[in-house]
Amino acid sequence: MRIAVTVNGEELEAEVWEGESLLYALREHMGLPGSKNACEQGECGSCSVLLDGRLVCACLVLAAQADGHEIATVEGLGSEDAFHPVQEAFATTGAVQCGFCTPGLIVATVDLLARTPEPSDDEIREALSGNLCRCTGYAKIFDAVRMAATS
Ligand code: FES
Ligand code: FES
Repeated sequence: MRIAVTVNGEELEAEVWEGESLLYALREHMGLPGSKNACEQGECGSCSVLLDGRLVCACLVLAAQADGHEIATVEGLGSEDAFHPVQEAFATTGAVQCGFCTPGLIVATVDLLARTPEPSDDEIREALSGNLCRCTGYAKIFDAVRMAATS
């Protein structure tokens, strides 16, 4: 089947099969590999995107369900020359080690700060509870979120 979606403000179409995830369609058919594929079970958050402004795991959404909807991925947040403030904060605080979790954490942080510009530590913990990181121990990720909130 053919789907038409708006991704980061750009209208895209793709041929997908009925059981294909949005994550697979983004990565394999739309040239957007920023959302990472780690568990494909909704457990790690590395595939986090915004679907019509709501944070979702792209691995749990069928590409067919996204037909006609708006998607924001990490690729739409900044560029190599001009990082998004959340990306800048993650880089500055050293909240990135292997980097595999980072795109999902950045999308989840952007979502958090849009809803709660000055989050408490508990609100950060709750908002990022669906995003697993095997490397950092989370302390620097908290530093990054706090820095982004004040920038
Ligand atoms: S790949 Fe989607 S939650 Fe892990
Ligand atoms: S930086 Fe490696 S999983 Fe988070």
